Amino acid sequence: MAKPGNFNPEIHVRDFRAQYENVRVGSDDLISLDGRKTESLNGKWNFMPDPLEYVLRGAWYREDRYDDKGREKPCDFDFESWPLMKVPACWNMERSDLFLYESMGTYFRTFGYRKHSDDERVFLYFKGAIYRTYVFLNGEPIAMHDGGSTPFAVEITGRVKDQNRLIVAVDASRRDDRVPMTNSDWFYYGGIYRDVLFVRTGRTVIKDWFVRLVPGSGYKKIAIDAEVDGVLDGKGRFSIPELGIEKEIEFKGGKASAVIDASPELWSPENPKLYDTELEYDTDKVSSRIGFREFKVVGNDIMLNGKSRFLNGICVHEDHIKLGKSTNDDVIRETIRVAKEELHATFLRLAHYPHSQRFAEIADEMGIMLWEEIPVYWAIDFTNPVTMADAKNQLSELIKRDRNRASIMIWSVGNENPDTDERFAFMSGLAEHARSLDPTRAISAACLVDEVGEKIDDRLASKLDIIGINEYYGWYDPDFSKLGRVLKNSNPDKPVIITEVGAGARSGNHGTEDMLWTEEFQEAFYKKQIAEISACRFIKGMSPWILIDFRAERRFNKYQEGFNRKGLIDSDRKTKKKAFYVLSAFYEELQK
Ligand code: GCU
Repeated sequence: MAKPGNFNPEIHVRDFRAQYENVRVGSDDLISLDGRKTESLNGKWNFMPDPLEYVLRGAWYREDRYDDKGREKPCDFDFESWPLMKVPACWNMERSDLFLYESMGTYFRTFGYRKHSDDERVFLYFKGAIYRTYVFLNGEPIAMHDGGSTPFAVEITGRVKDQNRLIVAVDASRRDDRVPMTNSDWFYYGGIYRDVLFVRTGRTVIKDWFVRLVPGSGYKKIAIDAEVDGVLDGKGRFSIPELGIEKEIEFKGGKASAVIDASPELWSPENPKLYDTELEYDTDKVSSRIGFREFKVVGNDIMLNGKSRFLNGICVHEDHIKLGKSTNDDVIRETIRVAKEELHATFLRLAHYPHSQRFAEIADEMGIMLWEEIPVYWAIDFTNPVTMADAKNQLSELIKRDRNRASIMIWSVGNENPDTDERFAFMSGLAEHARSLDPTRAISAACLVDEVGEKIDDRLASKLDIIGINEYYGWYDPDFSKLGRVLKNSNPDKPVIITEVGAGARSGNHGTEDMLWTEEFQEAFYKKQIAEISACRFIKGMSPWILIDFRAERRFNKYQEGFNRKGLIDSDRKTKKKAFYVLSAFYEELQK
């Protein structure tokens, strides 16, 4: 029976992605980077937009240029000749033809390798790429990762040669089954936008370690949990020299736990005390500067080191007019400096996804408390187990990456999600999962107000330690008086943080306070919001929306021009609007 074929069999293949599921990597594949010497693979890589995903569909990564008779094939790729693209960077900011490009981009580079020791193990570590990343090494698929803001690692021991060819395909498409889904109010950048590292270890690698003050120990005990791969049984050394701690800890089956008496100077925004901390085991060693503090909820109060405090905060996006979602230490330091020194904030809500790992590291040093969040944002597909697995993995990757950071006080499992049974189950599951990974922090989310009953009433709150509430009375809902009624009608049994409140204004646009988009409108809005919020007994924090204007694809009136203008500072990151000073004065007063 004749079998009608085609000269290019791949043109009929539809399900060309499923085969890479067998190289999926996630939080279990992460290794700790703390204190390691790593080798950077950053630089100029060859790059081509690949909207038909032909690197997958046509298996370009095999680079098989000749047929089985040795005849050259008319291939459509030629990696070495492709134009160069900076890594790390958002391709949207590097090439104007890619500004709104939300599909696949394929990267290529070579790298050399010489073993440093017989038992050496080698890993590739990606700090962040949006959204699905396929990694191919020397013609073989080696990793696939979902999640645009969390790191992933893949071991390449035994697969790496003297000269290597690395292909990375990044699919930045929005899909309703992803986290976030197709609709979000922040610009959807694409690419390998955070560092790519080459990591060498000995035969044993410390995958994870978690060091913290034991809650409820009267600030007198430090706990460590650690996990290794390689030699699974043996003795390790845990040390905090400044505290006189030099403790032998026992690994069994790759795990070790210990609790040690200690009385560390406590970390706080006012006194961001950090201790050099080290874990050495078999052939490996990790180190970090770690702060010790106790953050907890007692009734309606938020307590840091036994003292209740109001979280005087502000929201920030990871968005920069020139860098997009990429960032650097200078940008992070300046953001924290302005928030802490000029706005007199001691708290930042890092919306709506995990920011750079450097943010929490620098926040530890500079002294500011953080809310970190996974992008379970608006109406994601709460009915889909694949979506749940993705969200859970991103949460695990975030918590494993950052749980040694003193500055992080709250893990958030989402933002403004529609109240359905599936959403309740999905987010309750995430809250439980976060607690299982880290019982030392508060779990929260931006919850919903019952607009009919005019009160704070979201069943998800029963699964949270702190209730986040986004409210825009006086902006999206022009009836500002509702805020007073909502607060009066509510009687939450745990602290509430106003996790968003804001109004748009174009810097330099002036008029009367009843004119939308003027600085005067935004200033008057903040004055009346602060009066209501500060008078409410159960509100224990606020992080207005937002410190700096940020890019958003759907914001196109003449004041916005592609930016969400609710910032207190213009997207130039310099020009402060009048409302900045209203909030700054309120926070300065609070701190007296
Ligand atoms: C929502 C949402 C933000 C959004 C903001 C706005 O509350 O959480 O991501 O940018 O409103 O509309 O400006």
